[in-house]
Amino acid sequence: MTQVPSAGFIKHPPLPTLHPNDACARYRIHHHAQTHPATVRNNNNNNNNNNNNNQPASAKEPEMKAKVLVLYYSTYGHTEHLANAIADGARSAGAVATVKRVPELMPPEVAKQAGAKTEQAAPVAHPDELADYDAIIIGSPTRFGRISAQVANFLDQTGSLWAGGKLIGKVGGAFVSTASQHGGAETTLFSILTNLMHHGMITVGLPYAFGGLTRMDEITGGAPYGATTLAGADGARQPSENELAGARFQGRHIAEVATTLLRGRNQ
Ligand SMILES: Cc1cc2nc3c(=O)[nH]c(=O)nc-3n(C[C@H](O)[C@H](O)[C@H](O)COP(=O)(O)O)c2cc1C
Repeated sequence: MTQVPSAGFIKHPPLPTLHPNDACARYRIHHHAQTHPATVRNNNNNNNNNNNNNQPASAKEPEMKAKVLVLYYSTYGHTEHLANAIADGARSAGAVATVKRVPELMPPEVAKQAGAKTEQAAPVAHPDELADYDAIIIGSPTRFGRISAQVANFLDQTGSLWAGGKLIGKVGGAFVSTASQHGGAETTLFSILTNLMHHGMITVGLPYAFGGLTRMDEITGGAPYGATTLAGADGARQPSENELAGARFQGRHIAEVATTLLRGRNQ
């Protein structure tokens, strides 16, 4: 696994003490306190009327690892390649990263005719499982400057998660592949990010602390809104070292933010 430098400047201020009537506090209590080991332990202690609770919580806490889902669709493998690099970056920050893909919608004969890469190692995700992660990073090849139908179809099945506020406060990010340099990478990134914001997620991009964003000595993808790659008109170009470094940086950065939030919410 490639080592990815930390963004370094992630020095989050301590979280404020929230009033119990505050919506965020309610969220924190609802989503985290019930399952937090300290809460479960304390509840057990209370239920058993056992006062053996003098030990500082931290002495018994398991290490908190953010769960990161890298979810993508890829017809020819470029977005898949970025997805794996993002997961590597997240793992380098100590997160547990899972790579999954959304279901293909093209009939098999059409996919074959299009020369699609039908064999991809990542298992297919179910919309309901999004609630299980602390961070969700979604990737798509561009289609006319916007998200692919496969990813949109998957997200269209998250209505009940949205209605239940299940993704509120989770960290989200986006990454894309385009054929051409100005073929709509940024509009496609935003067509993913809007979905995440409707879900109440905290969107995180690829900061300029990743110096590869400002390279002028080679043609390269990469945007402050998320990692990108260029496939070329015939799909022959593969993600460059710079683009993969950007993807790893984004994965690490999002994992660091998610871990910081997780620890803060469980204090
Ligand atoms: C219907 C369709 C529309 C596309 N629209 C665009 C586009 O607007 N801009 C662009 O640069 N590439 C466009 N492409 C090219 C794909 O984005 C390219 O094949 C993809 O980035 C490769 O990624 P993948 O290997 O993960 O599928 C389009 C491809 C298809 C099939």
